[in-house]
Amino acid sequence: MTCPSCACDKTFPKIVVSRGNPRARLMLIGEAPGAKENDTGESFVGRSGKLLDTLLEQAGINPVEDVFFCNLVKCRPPNNRKPTMPELLLARPWLDQQIHLVDPLIMGLVGSTAVNALLGIKSSISNLRGSWQHLEGRLVMPLFHPSYLLRKPSKESGSPFSLTCDDLLSIRRKLSSFKMNNVDEIFGTNSSSFQ
Ligand code: URA
Repeated sequence: MTCPSCACDKTFPKIVVSRGNPRARLMLIGEAPGAKENDTGESFVGRSGKLLDTLLEQAGINPVEDVFFCNLVKCRPPNNRKPTMPELLLARPWLDQQIHLVDPLIMGLVGSTAVNALLGIKSSISNLRGSWQHLEGRLVMPLFHPSYLLRKPSKESGSPFSLTCDDLLSIRRKLSSFKMNNVDEIFGTNSSSFQ
């Protein structure tokens, strides 16, 4: 049997679709499920996901109510390798469908694979983070991958860790400003804990 998500050759592929609120206004898109995600069937639940949840909470974003988490590809590539271009291309319609259905106002692209795949920009996260990008009418923020932050734990000002905290705060402020401008009423979306 061939995996319908990425055409990898697994007899019983484990498909990891998402985690969080499908009506959230923030969608975080990572690269691919890791081992823990593969075991549990939910996106971003391993060490990286736990760190991401903590940073989101610190920024005032509720990871359960305010975020929909998913990945470029829905099944774990062997040996933790990056998804190949054919896998990315095959999985893309599924991701596009998720974006269409969730209809987020903001997308956070978690790590350089997600940034390269969705924005088509081959530049480092250090160069791209901190400034809003646009994709098909949505605001997009490139973010350091939490697995990178786990490898670079310094919290000093200017460190990837502290820059990521800044970026999540920018996202939270933008979500709050949408709320104040009644975007929910205009677009008929809703469901977050923002005031
Ligand atoms: N890394 C990702 O990019 N996605 C996950 O779901 C977990 C780890």
